[in-house]
Parts: sequence; C-alpha cells; structure tokens
Amino acid sequence: MRISVIGCGYVGLVTGTGLAEAGHHVICTDNDPERIAALKAGVIPIYEPHLDTMLVSNRRAQRLSFTSDAGEAVREGEAIFICVGTPPLETGEADLSAIDNVARLIAAEACESKLVVEKSTVPAQTGQQLKRVLEVYRRNTGVEFRVASNPEFLREGTAVEDFLHPDRVVIGVEDEASEKQLREVYRPILEQRFKCPVHLSGCPSTQSPRLVVTTINSAELIKHASNSFLAMKISYANMIADMCEKVGANIQEVTHAMGLDPRIGPRFLEAGLGFGGFCLPKDVQAFIRLAERSGVDAGILKEAERVNKRRIDLFLDKIRQSLWVVKDKQVGVLGLAFKANTDDIRFAPSLEIIRRLLAEGAQVRAYDQEAMDRTSAILPHVRYSREPYEVAEGADALLILTEWPEFRQLDWTRIYSVMDRPLVIDGRNLLNPGAMLDLGFEYHSFGRPTEVLTPHLIPPMASGASARATA
Ligand code: UDX
Repeated sequence: MRISVIGCGYVGLVTGTGLAEAGHHVICTDNDPERIAALKAGVIPIYEPHLDTMLVSNRRAQRLSFTSDAGEAVREGEAIFICVGTPPLETGEADLSAIDNVARLIAAEACESKLVVEKSTVPAQTGQQLKRVLEVYRRNTGVEFRVASNPEFLREGTAVEDFLHPDRVVIGVEDEASEKQLREVYRPILEQRFKCPVHLSGCPSTQSPRLVVTTINSAELIKHASNSFLAMKISYANMIADMCEKVGANIQEVTHAMGLDPRIGPRFLEAGLGFGGFCLPKDVQAFIRLAERSGVDAGILKEAERVNKRRIDLFLDKIRQSLWVVKDKQVGVLGLAFKANTDDIRFAPSLEIIRRLLAEGAQVRAYDQEAMDRTSAILPHVRYSREPYEVAEGADALLILTEWPEFRQLDWTRIYSVMDRPLVIDGRNLLNPGAMLDLGFEYHSFGRPTEVLTPHLIPPMASGASARATA
C-alpha cells in the first residue's frame, strides 16, 4: 500500500520505517526542511536502537522516501498517518494545533479519497473534530475522507521492536472500508510474515499480536487510559517504597511477590525517581484535563502525578541528609536520559535534580552514554565527562539518575578509590546494596533500607568489582 507519514519525530520515523519494513511504500514529510535534508542523507535525529539500519535498508529498497513537500506527501498516500507532536499547553491540555494544521493541509492538497489515521496521542473526541475540519476545508468536493484512530504504544529504546512485534494493534474505525484498509496495512505485522531485520529479540515472534477493533473514541481513550495506568502503577510502587523505608521492609521483596499475582503482573513496579519522558507525564496531565472538562473526578490521576513530583524532593532530601551542606560539594552524576537506551531528556528527573543542586551551590559533573549533547545545550554549567570514571574523581557524592545497565558493570573498586567521599545515592535502585556496602561505600537507594537486604532479589554487580572487594 502507498502510505504517507506526516511528522518525522519519534513516532513518525518509527511508524514510517516500520511500515516500509513490513512491505509498504512509505513517503514521510516534516515541516522542518533541515530534518528532511538530514534524513535524506541518512542522518537520524534521535537515538533509537535498530532504527538507523532499518531506515537505510528500506531507503535502499526504495520502499521509504522523504520529502519536504507536504503536498506531495499528501497526494502520494492512500492512507495518511498523522504523527505530529501534541505537546502540553500551560494548562496541561494537549496542544492540537499541529493536528489542525495537518488536517487543513490534507483537505487542501488531496485530489482523491483518503484514509486519515490519527497516530499522535490525542484526547478522546479529537477524531470527530478531525472529520469536521477535513469536511469544512476540503477544496476538491469530489474527495472523501475517512478518519481512523490507531494509537501507538511505542516505548523509547525498544520502539522498533514494539512496532514490529506489538502485543496489540488497536484500530478505531467507524466504517468497513477503513477497517479493511487498516487490516491490510497491519496484515504483515499481525501475521508476522515479513522478513525481520536481525538482532531483534522478538524475531521470529512466537505470539501473534492481537488486533483490537473499536470505535474512534474508544481507541483514543485506550491510549490515555493505558499510559495513565502505567503512571499510577509506578507511583503506587513508589509509595510502597516510601512505606518500606519507614517500616523496615524491602521494596524489591514486596513488588516481586505482588508481581507474581497475574492480576498485578511484575512490570512497571520499579521504584525510584518516578516516571519522566515525553509521554507519561504529559498524557497523565492531558487525561486529567479531559476528565475535568467531562465532569469526571480525576483525583486518582492527580495523586499519581503528585507522588511522582515528590520523588525529586525525596531524592534531594537523601542527598542533603548525607552531604549535610551541599554548597561547594563536588557531585558526580551517572545518567541524564529519562530512562535507559534513549538520548531523550524531556521531563527527565536528572534536569530538575541538577538544576536544584546547582542552585544550592554544588559543582556538578555528569556522564551519560547518549544524552550529554542534548543536556549540555540546556545545562551549560555542568561539566561533562566522556567516560564515567571521570565524574567520580574527587567527588563527594555520586548520583545514579538513569538505569543504564552498563553502570552495573563499572569497576566500583576503582570508583571507590577515586572519590573524595565514597557516597553513592542510587535513584534507580540499580546497584546491589550489599555489594556496595561490602566495597565500603555509603549507599542509599529507594525503599531498600540496608538492614533488610535480601541479596537473592537484587541485581548482581559486575563480578570483578565485588570479587575484588571480598578479597
Ligand atoms: C511510554 C509507554 O510505555 C508507551 O507505551 C507509550 O507509547 C509512550 O510512553 P516511554 O515514554 O518510552 O513509553 O517510557 P516507559 O518505558 O513507559 O517509561 C516511562 C518512565 O517511567 C521512565 O522515566 C521510566 O524510568 C519510568 N519507570 C518505568 C519507572 O520509574 N518504573 C517502572 O517500573 C517503569
């Protein structure tokens, strides 16, 4: 099928490349001509595992192309996927102006009937507005537009895998032709019958993804309801972690046992600095605003948001309690991205923590394998190190702010020897507290008081580091 993708951000690039990988002919456009020029030259503006190789191979196979001529992109596709951003307004509501612009563009440029698919995350009932705008602005009266919703469930860092091997594909449709067309778009993915790129852990998939066909309003709601539920789950685990600290229990023991109940499940119960990134925080806010506008009590979501904001205060309290005076202290930071396997720092807890430490007079040195360039553009007063050991040199405290698994493998004996004070405050519960104490560190994390350590449940450290310490 000929498919157009409007918006070459995170969702658009993964969607366009994934649909090309599945065998469709995809043309992508963006209103940033520099971005399109870079993509044509094979330069990808984001870090996302596997995306670069898949993009190059599909361009070579002539299934994927980029244009800065949005009209051309609109005319080309039988189905048009809208993948533009819906950032939060100051009120917390989603800014839908980019969707509105694209709708008017499609209405003006289309010469034949189109299926217009909302892929961007939008509040319920946006599809109805989209239909109205397409109808009102269409120039060619012979053209018919059908609208559908097809929310994405892509996690940064595993987005390619999530696209090609999803748990479910949700399509919100209101007519048979749209359903048929979207079934056709997703057939290769639903049947898992395309030749998969190497390296993906889910290849070949043993489980076929479920196709869920709903109304447009339901599909839109599914996206917000899913992300808000994940946010609530994380905040719940964080509240339990706080409780663990007060009563002398271990959060990892508690969530491990909770997660064995299939009604709860083990995932998204990791306590720590809470949820960041460009989706969960903004989706919860937009969902709260939608609930308020609809006269529905959103208290449960507001509380999840409040618990999440408090994580940063609690973490700073831990730092102050250990360091006593923050002013003039050397603080090393491991991890800036909002989570591992991404260079994305939007709504990353690291930014707020570093800003507050700088405001209190600390000197901050930071390392992240992917996110330093982006961070240095907005936090120029931090010193950035090209290797992790440098941030520990002469430091009074070392903070772990992103759960990069590589940090576990560091030589912690070496880190111990170069720090002025061997203090580690782990905002992601990444390290093994027992091993850290054995190495001589003063170590703090969330919901794991050192007197109730249970080594069988906590992740192992790099064997070399602990072995040297034991010796
Ligand atoms: C999320 C949704 O998972 C995805 O389905 C949607 O399409 C986009 O938003 P993403 O923003 O990439 O994906 O990140 P996700 O993996 O969901 O993590 C969100 C945040 O929660 C991160 O800051 C992560 O560190 C944090 N988190 C996650 C926890 O604090 N604890 C957990 O147990 C899981």
